[in-house]
Amino acid sequence: MTATAIFGARTGVGFHLARLLCERGEPVVAMLRPGADAGPLEALGVRVVHGDAFAPEDIDAALDLAAQGEVDVISTIGGRREDGRFADEDGNVNIAERAAARNDLGRFVLVTSIGCGEMAPYRSERAIAAFGASVDAKTRAENHARRIIPSATFIRPGGLRSEPATGRGILSEDAQMHGFIHREDVADLVARALRDPATEGRAFAAVDADQARSINPIEPFPLAR
Ligand SMILES: NC(=O)c1ccc[n+]([C@@H]2O[C@H](COP(=O)([O-])OP(=O)(O)OC[C@H]3O[C@@H](n4cnc5c(N)ncnc54)[C@H](OP(=O)(O)O)[C@@H]3O)[C@@H](O)[C@H]2O)c1
Repeated sequence: MTATAIFGARTGVGFHLARLLCERGEPVVAMLRPGADAGPLEALGVRVVHGDAFAPEDIDAALDLAAQGEVDVISTIGGRREDGRFADEDGNVNIAERAAARNDLGRFVLVTSIGCGEMAPYRSERAIAAFGASVDAKTRAENHARRIIPSATFIRPGGLRSEPATGRGILSEDAQMHGFIHREDVADLVARALRDPATEGRAFAAVDADQARSINPIEPFPLAR
């Protein structure tokens, strides 16, 4: 059975994804930072390894723990270190590089942000001022991952809310998409994308159908259930 290694599972989208995959009975490994409380994930059945995405050998240890056939690799990590380096870029680049170096890599999914890549020209001044630097760092990670893992999938959430799932999350390839989505719904979309090979090699905005806006008609990607 394919195992999934999640980077960023202590909180947010990554945690909900770990829960969903465990509920399906699938093996999940998560890398948490040194000292982080593994209890909530271990209670779900997740195997936890401690490490930092800035340390390639820590990523290898997590991927080795997951190895038992193919390994799907998911990263939701983001944030900035005290020295100014972005986990959004350097952490995700390290994860992509270590994943690409293996011969057991299955799917590679990077959770980035609305506004990445070809969406950049459609960002508002306010969005650029508030999170432009981190979104640009995520774009650089996407670009690097795409070069070394052509089948990589990029899921770019809109503004995240920590409210219960609505079940109304959609993926969209519209570069002008904006909106909001609940973290649990992003996790559900990632879990479904993992099962749908049509999502390989593509980038999607992830928004709630009822909290989405675009100047174009809203046409959800036909993601398998
Ligand atoms: N906030 C928004 O509205 C918004 C909108 C669009 C996209 N996004 C992006 O969507 C993704 C998911 O968001 P979220 O709010 O669910 O995530 P989150 O709760 O902020 O989780 C990010 C995880 O990354 C981990 N992490 C950060 N640096 C790391 C490192 N060097 N090594 C290992 N782990 C590291 C964090 O660990 P610790 O818990 O130890 O810090 C945390 O568990 C993030 O990339 C976020 O930037 C956010």
